[in-house]
Amino acid sequence: MVFQVKLFKSGNEFSVDESETVLDAALKHGYVIPYSCRSGSCGACKARIVSGRVDYGDYAGDTLTDADHAKGIALLCQARPIEDLVVDAREVAVSQEIEIKMLPCRVSHLEKLNHDVMLMTLKLPANQQFTYLAGQYIDMLLRDGRRRSFSLASAPRDGGELELHVRRVPGGFFTNQIFNTMKERDLLRFQGPLGTFFLRQDSEKPVILVAGGTGFAPIKAIVEMAIEEKNTRPIHLFWGVRAEPDLYMNDLAGRWSERYDHIEYTPVLSEVNADSGWTGKVGWVHEAVVEQYPDLGGYEVYMSGPPPMIEAGSAAFLEHGLSDQCLFFDSFEFASDVPQG
Ligand SMILES: Cc1cc2nc3c(=O)[nH]c(=O)nc-3n(C[C@H](O)[C@H](O)[C@H](O)COP(=O)(O)OP(=O)(O)OC[C@H]3O[C@@H](n4cnc5c(N)ncnc54)[C@H](O)[C@@H]3O)c2cc1C
Ligand code: FES
Repeated sequence: MVFQVKLFKSGNEFSVDESETVLDAALKHGYVIPYSCRSGSCGACKARIVSGRVDYGDYAGDTLTDADHAKGIALLCQARPIEDLVVDAREVAVSQEIEIKMLPCRVSHLEKLNHDVMLMTLKLPANQQFTYLAGQYIDMLLRDGRRRSFSLASAPRDGGELELHVRRVPGGFFTNQIFNTMKERDLLRFQGPLGTFFLRQDSEKPVILVAGGTGFAPIKAIVEMAIEEKNTRPIHLFWGVRAEPDLYMNDLAGRWSERYDHIEYTPVLSEVNADSGWTGKVGWVHEAVVEQYPDLGGYEVYMSGPPPMIEAGSAAFLEHGLSDQCLFFDSFEFASDVPQG
């Protein structure tokens, strides 16, 4: 069966096949709604069902609370319509048409950046166009149908290679393959670009970027793009890691802030040995942000990294006056290994 979905604010309408999620159908018809993990874990795609009924689908237990259910909120990456729907979801204005594709690629370079982060670059076939927005991610498609998500770490360039920063997960299936057996020239497949973690162009508000670990990857792409476009919106980048070696591109971030008056950089370590000589910030990265910006009313915050950082950061920033319309995040959830379209 096919159902109609109407977006409450814009009045835009599209059809959804009963086998599709509302999010997949919206993207297929060119309507971009905020989303990140596509696995029911991060909550980025929450929206209110104004009328009609949905099958809520599978999601991590605490992603939809009782209060969400009472308000009719669903996760659009999981929800499938049972009736025609009216949905109150934010639509994201996108400056160019983005087509989600499945593409082959070759590993062109592998380089360890520190003890547990690998720089991996991917080369696309010469006849393939791949357009993305700085901050988006791709899903690597494994032979058995599983997927693994990685953010694109460089600004889009015509014919340019794709850069990924991969953290080795202890016991992780794919990231250990990358560290142990993958070689340059190996052939892979991916789907992308995905996600809505990109700089909103319709705002002039100063930007706070918050990275945790390899959450630096999409943020690097966003900063590179802003520099390339000569966008002088003030940017303050906070990068939180455990120890100094985890700041695997500290020099690059330092150079941005030296060269550009509108870019500020604050690295934050959560564990410091007394004899390390570290004179910078210590503690949780979200605490460093609110210490410096106790009133976030006039800012936009973009945050990417491990789920606990996203949860703690979101709560703290909203408490400190940030509007929920000005909070954007990619939560580095693990794959649920449920096949997706
Ligand atoms: C939108 C998005 C963007 C992402 N971008 C990046 C990126 O740019 N760089 C990057 O390094 N990672 C990124 N991730 C996380 C990355 O997708 C996972 O680390 C990866 O899928 C792990 O694959 P694996 O096969 O090695 O682990 P699996 O075999 O899937 O995991 C084995 C076990 O390890 C644990 N585990 C898995 N992943 C993690 C994790 N991330 N943290 C802690 N424990 C974990 C789980 O308990 C899991 O059961 C992103 C995730 C999302 C959703
Ligand atoms: S919960 Fe739907 S995109 Fe993460």
